[in-house]
Amino acid sequence: MDEYLNVGKTYLVTGGAGFIGANFVKYMLEKYADIKLVVLDKLTYAGNLGTIREELKDSRISFVKGDICNRELVENIFMQHDIDYVVNFAAESHVDRSIENPQIFLETNILGTQNLMEVAKNFWTIGKDSNGYPIYKEGKKFHHVSTDEVYGSLSKDFDIPKELILDEAVRKIATGRKNLQTYGEKMFTESTPLDPRSPYSASKTASDMIVMSYGETYKFPFNITRCSNNYGPYHFPEKLIPLIIKNILAGKKLPVYGKGDNVRDWLYVMDHCKGIDMVISKVEAHEIYNIGGFNEEQNINIVKLTIDTIARIMKEEPKYQSVLSTDLSNINYDLITYVQDRLGHDSRYAIDPTKIVTELGWYPETPFTEGIEKTIRWYLDNQEWVAEVTTGDYQGYYDKIYKER
Ligand code: NAD
Ligand code: DAU
Repeated sequence: MDEYLNVGKTYLVTGGAGFIGANFVKYMLEKYADIKLVVLDKLTYAGNLGTIREELKDSRISFVKGDICNRELVENIFMQHDIDYVVNFAAESHVDRSIENPQIFLETNILGTQNLMEVAKNFWTIGKDSNGYPIYKEGKKFHHVSTDEVYGSLSKDFDIPKELILDEAVRKIATGRKNLQTYGEKMFTESTPLDPRSPYSASKTASDMIVMSYGETYKFPFNITRCSNNYGPYHFPEKLIPLIIKNILAGKKLPVYGKGDNVRDWLYVMDHCKGIDMVISKVEAHEIYNIGGFNEEQNINIVKLTIDTIARIMKEEPKYQSVLSTDLSNINYDLITYVQDRLGHDSRYAIDPTKIVTELGWYPETPFTEGIEKTIRWYLDNQEWVAEVTTGDYQGYYDKIYKER
């Protein structure tokens, strides 16, 4: 742990009541005794204080309910706390919602990010150099959490996946990962041109670009990480994996868009949190890193594997059946229902994380079969959480889009 530069640091974690932000809060409090976290979250439909209920009892964390777009509020936080790192998770994050209502995506994801940076720049500046560039207090950094979707969509070149051959340098580090596969010739690297295709990914790309522009224009200290599809505990059940688990447990149909052959690269959320921590505490400002799971799979296979895993758990541990109202003793693929495709549905994402693996020694430690089982067991054990987050004041939207599926 010695090589980490975060002892005694204060983090402003935006979006810390959402899926990845909350997992990051848990990861950091567990890993470091001597840090402070200030969580700023608007508690939209996707944010739930119950997710960090236990952590909020800890004296190392304080919570502020509010909007990252609110200048005065963010300034107050910087006045009250000597913030060392901003970790910006706060965003509107769901592609389908961005297709229905793009505007809030532009407001939060672009203007909110710019507002945070502007306040951080003002509070961290201690003078100017001879060329007029700001000089910043030592060690301050803005970490922006971005997505592989900024790179656009890759072609799917193979219907049957081929073996993914890792470079020798990556293979030496990622020794725990075996039997990897890919559906295409190309992967996203940090130098792949940005080419977003949905309102969500366009808003994330714009936020990346405004962050990079602060880096150029004001020498503002930032890092960006771009990760693939996360999965794990506390994932809001509008996204594919938690929606499928929730529906199976309720005996409902499993909606698969189009032919189910779109490919995503799945990353266990705690592996992602570890990567963010490493970048914040080990890396110089102005660097960008991809974080991926070495786990490309077609949606339909993800759905089938989830059904198979739940069926196996039910056979091995009948105790679960007693707490469920649905009889899951004979679940099978009949639950799958093909529904209308997403508009502009990106065909394939595949992250090449070579840079973070070779430079920082990070790699996605959790194989998918292990991660999906942990995730399913978490949902089985935490059905009250699912009930809690799906009955908020956004219930109308939730009902309209998801209830009948
Ligand atoms: P999420 O939707 O689960 O959580 C977002 C959180 O941000 C919620 O707690 C919400 O209340 C809060 N929030 C929204 N608008 C806000 C505002 N204006 N001010 C303050 N708080 C606000 O999202 P997530 O899946 O945890 O994603 C976190 C970040 O990671 C996002 O920036 C997302 O773009 C990025 N990302 C997510 C994934 C993924 O697979 N989930 C993959 C790549 C990148
Ligand atoms: O790639 C990273 C991105 O992953 C993040 O930037 C986003 O914030 C996050 O929401 C996620 O976006 P996706 O659109 O890839 O995730 P989602 O879970 O919505 O969908 C995954 C795939 O499953 C996608 O191809 C669409 C499909 N799908 C999704 C839902 C909700 C279905 O087939 N049926 C569904 O009901």
